[in-house]
Amino acid sequence: MSTKKLWGGRFQQQASEWVDQFGASISFDQLMADEDIEGSLAHVKMLKHTGILNGADVDKIVKGLEDLQTELHEGKLHFTVENEDIHMNIESLLTQKIGPVAGKLHTARSRNDQVATDFHLYLKNRLPKINDEITTLQKTLISLAEKNVETIMPGYTHLQHAQPISYGHYLMAYYQMFKRDKERFEFNMKHTDILPLGAAALAGTTFPIDREYTAKELGFSQVYANSLDAVSDRDFALEFLSNSSILMMHLSRFCEEISLWVSHEFKYLELSDGYTTGSSIMPQKKNPDMAELIRGKSGRVYGHLMGLLATMKSLPLAYNKDLQEDKEGVFDTVKTLLPSLRVFNGMLATAKPNIDRMKEATENDFSNATELADYLAAKGVPFRQAHGIVGQLVLKGIQTHQNLQDMSLEDLKKASPLIEKDVYHDLKSEVAVERRHSLGGTGFDQVKKQIADAKKELGIN
Ligand code: ARG
Repeated sequence: MSTKKLWGGRFQQQASEWVDQFGASISFDQLMADEDIEGSLAHVKMLKHTGILNGADVDKIVKGLEDLQTELHEGKLHFTVENEDIHMNIESLLTQKIGPVAGKLHTARSRNDQVATDFHLYLKNRLPKINDEITTLQKTLISLAEKNVETIMPGYTHLQHAQPISYGHYLMAYYQMFKRDKERFEFNMKHTDILPLGAAALAGTTFPIDREYTAKELGFSQVYANSLDAVSDRDFALEFLSNSSILMMHLSRFCEEISLWVSHEFKYLELSDGYTTGSSIMPQKKNPDMAELIRGKSGRVYGHLMGLLATMKSLPLAYNKDLQEDKEGVFDTVKTLLPSLRVFNGMLATAKPNIDRMKEATENDFSNATELADYLAAKGVPFRQAHGIVGQLVLKGIQTHQNLQDMSLEDLKKASPLIEKDVYHDLKSEVAVERRHSLGGTGFDQVKKQIADAKKELGIN
């Protein structure tokens, strides 16, 4: 007596319900239902093309699959745990619809190459959406940077005021990070755009299949060169999780800065009401919840990367059921990334920089100390010595509660007779920023160049 499972021929006993439940993946892999049907359609068309199946049988199967696709989109398909996963659920629904001829669909195919194909297709369909969202965010950055080339703010190292910079320059730094993120996802696409179907269980098949034909049907530019690799490889998923982790890390750093900048201590930025929340007890509160949430969500994406790396670590070739654990983390990452990018974009686009406050923060500090050292170095004082002279002036300033620009020329001259009246010009923060003409520096001309290059990259006029 065989069991009623599709693969049940050699089994004499049923698994108990909770074992079925444990082994099933339908609760999550139904997200790939569309891809599964798409893959089956291409496969069965190839079986007709190669003469492996006769045309009449294939036409019935194609019609049945297309009907299932329509019902899927209408939300009418009902999946069951008894049918374990999306592949067997679809096959069983097809059998209900067109009878035993449905059984011919699985000729020259295994669930091992089928699931890998579905997973590739799933990601292949989503990678461009992620890059589109990143591009939208880059456009926001460019337009904000354009408005803020001459907005002066403190630049930090060690979270201490370092040197004044242009806010536009700061924004364009993130533009560059997101540019690399997109390049990583594009490279990821190269490895996702390879078709595993035709590898069958692990060794290929004796049927005269045409893998190139299936690849063309499904829009893949390559097929896996090795059948063992085809069913075992999850590098494309790992790359996706790794790339996503780096992207989330970038968003998270930005969110951390936004959270700091909206605080009472900084007040560099005011978030719009639409992207903040209040407190149930403290009536004055306006919390940067969205920034915190995106920062928090970076953690779960890193977790998915670690999870899959650990799952893959000791897997012998070829397919092992462990691989069923590859999907949820990737699905959740897609579900996390897209709204994080959208929310972040909206939050940033509607935030108002407090330009006066940013500038003021560069004037009540010693972030122009390098300017004075450079001033002396330009007059021939060895930079190391100039550094020492200015360091002593800073110390004096701390003791007397004076900034460098507030000290009298007489006092400055005591430190170095080379200091003249023109020093006060150099000590202005906007001058310190404007003059940094070195390639990629924060000088206004350099920020404008970065913006122009970025616009060219994105095809903006
Ligand atoms: N649900 C399985 C997965 O997600 C499909 C492949 C099953 N193959 C097998 N030989 N049990 O990996």
